[in-house]
Amino acid sequence: MFFLSAVISVLAVLGNASPMKRQNANVIYSCTQPNMVALTFDDGPYIWGSEVSDILTQHNATGTFFYNGNNWDCIYDSNIIATVQHVYNAGHMIASHTWSHPDLTTLTWDQIHNEMWLIEQAILRITGAYPAFFRPPYGSFNDLVLQAAYVRGQQVVIWDFDSGDSVGASEQQQMANYDSTIASHPSNILALNHETYDSTVHQTLPYAIQQLQAAGYQLVSLDVCLGGEQRYQYVTAPQQFDPSTWHC
Ligand SMILES: *[C@@H]1O[C@H](CO)[C@@H](O)[C@H](O)[C@H]1NC(C)=O
Ligand SMILES: [Zn+2]
Repeated sequence: MFFLSAVISVLAVLGNASPMKRQNANVIYSCTQPNMVALTFDDGPYIWGSEVSDILTQHNATGTFFYNGNNWDCIYDSNIIATVQHVYNAGHMIASHTWSHPDLTTLTWDQIHNEMWLIEQAILRITGAYPAFFRPPYGSFNDLVLQAAYVRGQQVVIWDFDSGDSVGASEQQQMANYDSTIASHPSNILALNHETYDSTVHQTLPYAIQQLQAAGYQLVSLDVCLGGEQRYQYVTAPQQFDPSTWHC
């Protein structure tokens, strides 16, 4: 994988020297399939990850988790590794949200790749899956970010509904946000939530699942609500824990 990094660096140098414009990754704001909702959960893995996974599973729902490596918790802590494996083995989708959650528009090309590679490596080591989807922290991106995602084989995912949990909405407000979106009868919803808030996990999520399903929506993973995109770039066996390299 150091080899891969080296190849990408060489490509970057060639890209800089070339008069040809670099290619931007595709940016996704919405699902494409009718009557589907993709519930996405950012900023984990964190202490309630397995609980979120189980709540979804118990309600015939599949979620999508945009993971950091070192944000609310370190992805290489033994209990967090177990959480990631629990979520993955339950069939939920795992995607990339950078290593340390910076605003990528403040970083250089190499720094952007480092933020992307470190979390991809962690997800690959722990699950065996290489992410095909990436969400920039704060939804903040520029051409450099899109170009980096493109050469890494990833599509960039934003959202068309925000529960408001990360910007201080109370649980009543979050539930009201779901209510008003459902009342407007959208064909589909790509919903932003964060698994790092008690109220999201224990109040908003159970309520949202109930209301969305009562309104006739299927709660599916992002790849499904996009009409059957490839969930991961490739899938291999998980790797063995190695304390000398698996650390934050
Ligand atoms: C479970 O969800 C799937 C896909 O979202 C749907 O096709 C199926 O009908 C659901 N099953 C039940 C029992 O609701
Ligand atoms: Zn985030």
